[in-house]
Amino acid sequence: MRVVSGIQPTGKPHLGNYLGAIVNYVKLQDEAEAQGGECFIFLADLHALSMTHDPAELTRNTREMVATLVACGVDPSKTVLFNQAQVPAHAEMQWLLNGTARMGWLNRMTQWKDKAGKNREGQSVALFTYPVLQAADVLLYQATHVPVGEDQKQHLELARDIAQKFNNDFCDEDAPLFTLPEPFIPPSAARIMSLRDGTSKMSKSDPSEMSRISLTDDPDTVMKKVKKAKTDPEPLPSEEAGLEDRPEARNLVGIYAALTGKTPAKVLSEHGGQGFGAFKPALGEVLVETLTPINARFMELKGDQEALDAILARGASRARERGIPTLDAAYKALGLVRG
Ligand code: TRP
Repeated sequence: MRVVSGIQPTGKPHLGNYLGAIVNYVKLQDEAEAQGGECFIFLADLHALSMTHDPAELTRNTREMVATLVACGVDPSKTVLFNQAQVPAHAEMQWLLNGTARMGWLNRMTQWKDKAGKNREGQSVALFTYPVLQAADVLLYQATHVPVGEDQKQHLELARDIAQKFNNDFCDEDAPLFTLPEPFIPPSAARIMSLRDGTSKMSKSDPSEMSRISLTDDPDTVMKKVKKAKTDPEPLPSEEAGLEDRPEARNLVGIYAALTGKTPAKVLSEHGGQGFGAFKPALGEVLVETLTPINARFMELKGDQEALDAILARGASRARERGIPTLDAAYKALGLVRG
């Protein structure tokens, strides 16, 4: 079991990042360890170049995201935790795969279409080839499991197509170079929605701070955001079917369930009939209980740049070592002469 996943070093990680991605990293890291496998988690800082970005902010966000991951339980002694920029093999592998990826494949990527909108000509080349770098990220380590959200499934399918074509074109049939990676969408992965609109994802790009709970919000802020969260006037139903057409109620129940490890059905069996005047404070308390220790650990780490840089340096050195055999083999398969 080789777990590989990347996370964008965006500012201010929020509850959606935590429940949707980070808690699964922690679970998979322990599973991989138990099975004698390996887990690689990296900050996708090279991917950040695909959009306009502020260099100083990228540096800061990269360190803050490492602090967040560690504060949330990603353990650098179990997981190879690093940032792409310190492992040149990612960029090298991308270039090697650029020969295999097809324009037509990239043109069909919905993320490219969504982000480019009507202005394709004005986008960076990096935005277009973003999925090839993502393929390089996972193929370099012969990933078997790639934990991602639904929105990244298509990129993973592309990585499989690239791997397959490369294996077909450049390898003996009985000795394919690349393992075909599987997107791994954990059944427990929670899709957390905005607190202001239960139909759109909790996102750092939402202009309203009230739409999301940041992992660094203090308890008063958390409580205030939960109490102001949009709801409807009905009390909670006792069964899940009653949440249909009530996206805001469903979201709050989903958050409660994800935080307590209960199923939504169980949460409703305990809280059904309650109005939001009672349920919201209960949810707020569970949130504060989860976030307080994460916050304390984050603050401690954030102030210790040396420790953060040491974590990244150590992770990068392990990643470089683990990626080299596949990179070398890819150069060789392509007939490139290297010293
Ligand atoms: N594109 C992913 C996202 O936006 C991040 C990412 C980059 C990634 N490289 C990856 C995820 C490799 C999984 C595997 O969420």
